[in-house]
Amino acid sequence: MSAEQNVQPRPELKFGLEGVIALESHLCMIDGEQGILLYRGYDIDTLAKHSTFEETAYLLWHGRLPKRQELEELTSQLQAHRALPEPVLNFLRQANPGAEPMDVLRTAVSMLAFYDPDVRDFSPEANLRKAIRLTAQAPTIITAFHRLRQGLEPVAPLQSGSTAHNFLYMLNGTEPDPEEEHIFDVCLILHAEHGLNASTFTARVIASTQADMHAAITGAIGALKGPLHGGANTGVMDMLLELDRSGVDPELWIKDKLARKERIMGFGHRVYRTIDPRAIELRELVARLAERKPEASKWLELAQRIQQIMKREKNLDPNVDFYSAPVYYTLGIPMDLFTTIFAMARMVGWTAHLMEQYANNRLIRPRAAYVGPMNVEYTPIEQR
Ligand SMILES: CC(C)(COP(=O)(O)OP(=O)(O)OC[C@H]1O[C@@H](n2cnc3c(N)ncnc32)[C@H](O)[C@@H]1OP(=O)(O)O)[C@@H](O)C(=O)NCCC(=O)NCCS
Repeated sequence: MSAEQNVQPRPELKFGLEGVIALESHLCMIDGEQGILLYRGYDIDTLAKHSTFEETAYLLWHGRLPKRQELEELTSQLQAHRALPEPVLNFLRQANPGAEPMDVLRTAVSMLAFYDPDVRDFSPEANLRKAIRLTAQAPTIITAFHRLRQGLEPVAPLQSGSTAHNFLYMLNGTEPDPEEEHIFDVCLILHAEHGLNASTFTARVIASTQADMHAAITGAIGALKGPLHGGANTGVMDMLLELDRSGVDPELWIKDKLARKERIMGFGHRVYRTIDPRAIELRELVARLAERKPEASKWLELAQRIQQIMKREKNLDPNVDFYSAPVYYTLGIPMDLFTTIFAMARMVGWTAHLMEQYANNRLIRPRAAYVGPMNVEYTPIEQR
């Protein structure tokens, strides 16, 4: 008997779940037409100008801005939980120095579950404690691995200062310049949350099965790594460096890529139909860096040229990854750590979403439209 095609009527297919509203969230509003991004109702531009990463974390986790004492308490909790359990540090010592930092972060975060006393406690209080610990520990994992792969000892985390300060200190082993620390802090704010993007959705899908927070974050890190998501920032810097080194005309280079149907990293977005407001903030940060580091002017000029070409050729605007790349590069951060920085900042948004998911859970389980054959006759193996 021949196979029949499935001709059952079916609901409208939303390929890539585009435009599908899967849940309600209090965390983040994105107006893709107007280019507006709000965290808990606060405009991203206001937060970038006036807030700090720690204050933004409080806002996302608690739904309101902290009073001074509340901010101090959260800051000291984040400082207190920076150290890693010894077995996780040992794993970093043994990890292949050639491993991708995102893979190392993913595995180390997964391991943290073995040593977190609250891993199986899903109460709001325990979830917040885990969110704080994960946010505090991620920078230590990233920087310790980076030191170890160079044959250096990890720099022990400070028991003081901001997340931005401590990250740059652990990365380089020296006190960061205050202006660079501030710029990095703004980057962390800008990356902290962004609605139901692919990695956050992944995290919520995992949590919706009532799996633990570490399992959900491990999955989220895996999803963030891809070049269509957080991995794009490394691709942007590859492009800027290639254009700079080769001296090729950016216009010819881009037209050639587009003619071959290749994607230009850092452009386009599933939700924004105009410039990503975070790209505007990050472009300002490159300009700010250019005032003190001449090499940043080169990247700013080149990036702006590419922005104009992409607008003209494809009517596409830059996304968050386009200008974050030259910011991190100018700050002296190794390119393969760019996406891990995205992850350490997004830890706040991921965990805030997980707290929402656990508080009001429903298994996330869409369906696929089956388009394969039906009622196929089974042929015994000897007769195939
Ligand atoms: C982010 C992204 C995956 C969103 O994709 P999407 O919503 O699925 O959009 P589509 O793939 O439907 O793209 C729509 C059109 O724009 C084009 N396009 C989208 N992004 C593009 C890019 N970065 N470079 C070149 N063309 C691009 C597509 O080829 C398509 O053109 P076509 O209609 O002529 O075929 C996509 O823009 C992309 O790949 N960007 C590069 C990676 C990146 O920067 N990711 C970080 C996102 S924050």
